[in-house]
Amino acid sequence: MSPWFNPARELDALIRRVAAGLPALGPAFDPQVRPATDARHGDYQANGILAAAKAAKANPRALATDLLSALQAEGTLAKAGLEVEVAGPGFLNFRLTPAALHAWIQAFPDADAWRRGAAALHAGRKVVIDYPSPNTAKQMHVGHLRPIVIGEAVARLLEFCGASLTRDNHIGDWGTNFGILILAIRLKGFVLDAASPTALEDLEALYKEGSALTKADPAALDAARAELARLQSGDAESLALWERIVAVSNAACQRIYDQFGLRSDVVLGESFYRDKVDQVYRELQACGLAEESDGALVVWHDEVPRYSRHAETKLPFIVRKKDGSSNYASTDLATVLYRAEVLGAQEVVYVTDGRQQDHFQQLFLTAEKWFKATGRTLPRLRHVWFGTILGEDGKAIKTKSGDPVRLQSLIDEATAKALEKVNEKSGDLPEAERRDVIAPRLGVAALRYADLVSNRTMDYRFSWDKMLAFEGNTAPYLLYQAVRVRSVFRNAGVAAGQGEAGATPPETPGEIALARKLLGFTAALDEASEDLRPHILCTYLHELAGAYSSFYADNKVLVDDPAVRARRLALCARTSALLESGLRLLGIEPLERM
Ligand code: ARG
Repeated sequence: MSPWFNPARELDALIRRVAAGLPALGPAFDPQVRPATDARHGDYQANGILAAAKAAKANPRALATDLLSALQAEGTLAKAGLEVEVAGPGFLNFRLTPAALHAWIQAFPDADAWRRGAAALHAGRKVVIDYPSPNTAKQMHVGHLRPIVIGEAVARLLEFCGASLTRDNHIGDWGTNFGILILAIRLKGFVLDAASPTALEDLEALYKEGSALTKADPAALDAARAELARLQSGDAESLALWERIVAVSNAACQRIYDQFGLRSDVVLGESFYRDKVDQVYRELQACGLAEESDGALVVWHDEVPRYSRHAETKLPFIVRKKDGSSNYASTDLATVLYRAEVLGAQEVVYVTDGRQQDHFQQLFLTAEKWFKATGRTLPRLRHVWFGTILGEDGKAIKTKSGDPVRLQSLIDEATAKALEKVNEKSGDLPEAERRDVIAPRLGVAALRYADLVSNRTMDYRFSWDKMLAFEGNTAPYLLYQAVRVRSVFRNAGVAAGQGEAGATPPETPGEIALARKLLGFTAALDEASEDLRPHILCTYLHELAGAYSSFYADNKVLVDDPAVRARRLALCARTSALLESGLRLLGIEPLERM
């Protein structure tokens, strides 16, 4: 018997194959295989027969019975250890036998095995993921938490599922803000010392002053525009200053990335595309997509309303500004081309705030039409967007002064609060370990998990109490459960994965429920990677920890019967490995003890 990595997926393929040979179903039949919602109905159900029977004006129960006979005659189900029965008005229910669960547990023991099983999902597809892509010359603030955390989790998920991944940090290093910033630096006679620890704060303060000045004084605004034009036309002195600003900013971002374990393969920011936008203008005009409007170059899409909701502003996709300079749209178009032709992307994933949905809708439409007109193949483009972090009061999160909360202060506060918790809970551990290892990891893990646990397209309320609680669907709870499972092996005096010889299939309700839940990882992985939604993995891990707790309460592991002991140790070892691998997929490094 060779176990299936994800039975739901392979059942689907098997049923389609068998149904193709049945006249009443045929090759277009969609079996709609789903994990069963109620364990009493088995592990999976195929719900598609009702719709097919309706279309064929056939009796659904008779059709289900025919399909069942054909499946049984084919023979694969019995070999895979799946029992099948007709249920209700015409469903097929499938149940994994204890032998099948056992075979799965033996065949897929660790992260490498799961990775091999999951690799079919993306099968070596070349994917470029664009994150966290901050704008430069600003300190990172709370708004940068989600692109870092969600971007990293999505990247790890894609990689785990077999994608050949390029992490591209598309920093915003060529925007209008540089005109204002350089103007302010010149007016103040400010000398930028890259080694100064406050370099970035100083730049931010200067930018604020410059911005206020350009708002109050039209002459200053013109001067800022002139600075930007000078920079964009390649003036050596401006470029040298710009380069130093970007270096200071990148170094500060890197200190944050390090604390989140984030690394990029390439950092090709907006400035990288500055000599690549002319081709975009030329081609868009040549294929009749772009037209001049009030001196700007714009693209209109019938798919997008021409006017905003209030019918006041027109909504063309502006690809070149009136003054001839490039913008977010032009660099993004050039970026699509580069990723397709130079990086060989078959798929591009953009991780940003939901407020950029309109931009990406127009970007994707323009790219689609442009690539089609020029005979190119467009990679699959996906916008993985997320909602806003709200304060405990339900409003956008801010400091008392109204400035955004700095990301470093969030990390520091999370670490301090985590240390308090650890001191309370595990005061017996060495102080240095609590302070230097556990608190920083637990703090960042709590921030991170709270950001991943709800569906990314929803807003969520930021709550220290909730994210640091040891109960509920939180990082502390899962990390603690992972440590608890490990302790079984310390007590048994064997390493995880050892002592399993002679293990028999699961038998007690707790064993069977845990084995089923372990296997449920494959469906969670499929689902999470389909829409790139990490919260599905969080839900799964929380349920796994729950199934383990119930198992552990009713099933003593270190019993005398060698077969029972071996199979329970195997269940513990898989739980431990899955909890830890699952946390790593989310970007969280498990702890040895806490
Ligand atoms: N720099 C942008 C921002 O901070 C995000 C860039 C996302 N990537 C892209 N290719 N547009 O909002």
